[in-house]
Amino acid sequence: MLNFTSVVLGRSEIDFLAIPVCEDAEIHADKELLALVAEAKALEEFKGEAKQQLTLYNLLDGRVRRCLFMGLGPRKKITAETLRAFAGRAVKAVMGAKRADLTVAAPLAQALDMAPQVLLQALAEGACLANHSFTRYKEKPKHEPLQRVSLLVPSATAKQFAALPGRVEAVCRAVCQAREWVSTPGNDKLPEQLGQAFATAASRAGLKVRTLDQAQLKRAKFGALLAVAAGSAHAPCLVEIVYTPAKAAGAQTIVLVGKGVTFDTGGISLKPAAGMEAMKGDMAGAAAVVGAMLAVARLKPKQRVIGITPIVENMPSGTATRPGDIVTSFAGKTVEIGNTDAEGRLILIDAMAYAIKKHKPDVLVDLATLTGACVIALGEKMAAVFSRDEALTAAIKAAGEAVHERCWPMPMPDDYKELLKSDLADISNMSSSRYGGAITAALFLSEFTNATRWAHIDIAGPGHAKKGSDYCGPGGTGFGVRLLCDLLERL
Ligand code: BES
Ligand code: MN
Ligand code: ZN
Repeated sequence: MLNFTSVVLGRSEIDFLAIPVCEDAEIHADKELLALVAEAKALEEFKGEAKQQLTLYNLLDGRVRRCLFMGLGPRKKITAETLRAFAGRAVKAVMGAKRADLTVAAPLAQALDMAPQVLLQALAEGACLANHSFTRYKEKPKHEPLQRVSLLVPSATAKQFAALPGRVEAVCRAVCQAREWVSTPGNDKLPEQLGQAFATAASRAGLKVRTLDQAQLKRAKFGALLAVAAGSAHAPCLVEIVYTPAKAAGAQTIVLVGKGVTFDTGGISLKPAAGMEAMKGDMAGAAAVVGAMLAVARLKPKQRVIGITPIVENMPSGTATRPGDIVTSFAGKTVEIGNTDAEGRLILIDAMAYAIKKHKPDVLVDLATLTGACVIALGEKMAAVFSRDEALTAAIKAAGEAVHERCWPMPMPDDYKELLKSDLADISNMSSSRYGGAITAALFLSEFTNATRWAHIDIAGPGHAKKGSDYCGPGGTGFGVRLLCDLLERL
């Protein structure tokens, strides 16, 4: 769908051309492009200010059928994210016009003080990610995806970055797959169904997959995970996906764990009705991890990468776990379940303890829609990162900035651990304080990670979005896929 083109403007037919325009600087080099921009700016209504838009028709002797000029604002404020958003909006404009083919005039990297690779990747990502909508349940989708997006660049650039479109497309396809999983309603992603979907996608990508079913989880004593699954009529499972690099000897082992609650009612500690439908997205961590594995299969990083997703449904019923129940976790520690709605941490500790025992990872990262408190703290567009490893925290923060999946470091104060004390068991899954819920959840997890280099990323806010944005529709966002891909290059 994505490629480079180096045609000379005015010499061949272009159905839909999008040109980014800066309000206070010239960001193109090609003289035809400069002439087109000058023609647009000669009009009173278009000066290249942020979000200004103008469409002109039949330019350059009719060779450019439609030309969309999009304002980016002042040069100093233009970042990679500005370009992602521009490309995304351009794709949506083409969809809205019911056209299928877009040419994007890439600006000059030097003019924006940006590395060419960063600029091209941002444009490519914005275009690819915007070209997806979740239509599984619509008889007639409102918009068809574009068939082709071409980035207009000099031929030397096209040659130098020849591998970029394919790589970006692979990653974005994985993001869109993760979005689809998150947006799918709970009735069509029962735990074993979702596990099967993960396994199928991963093995199609050429990865090794193993699925533990309920009987195997029982035999292996995943006591905390099984306690969450106990109320559901649908059996849990755990999917393990392995990527082995070509040079496996001496390679680091990175384990990614993703929370996979296909629907979180809260269990016996039932959630209020308002907004509960969003809890179909409580497997966004798992979707991001499997999405990242699909991308990894194509990107072929140097590390061994393993994705592990515990998958359960959290329901109230006659067989459900009760508040006050005490269970023995995979690690052997007993947990008093003070609140059945704090279920994410229960499935994560068993999956992480299993991962540590089996794979002895050099780095362990978990992604989870873990706490409402995290959304209160950072809002809906940012994740929180918790880690005692400064280098790992810095790498995650930098990766988040690079791909605009922002991760903000949070503290894990030792003295807050007191809040998780249980009179009867080794630990309680519920804090004795109403405050600092994202922190106490992270501290709970940290009791099961031993000396492993570990980070926890709480994506309760950005995992799904009620409203669409420049390059994402409403529903699952696929948050975490690009973050993890970028992170692997920093470890
Ligand atoms: N899945 C929720 C967290 C959540 C909230 C995700 C909002 C996305 C948006 C999690 O399982 C949960 O219920 N957490 C409780 C923990 C509490 C009972 C200690 C919470 O945050 O209220
Ligand atoms: Mn819950
Ligand atoms: Zn949950």
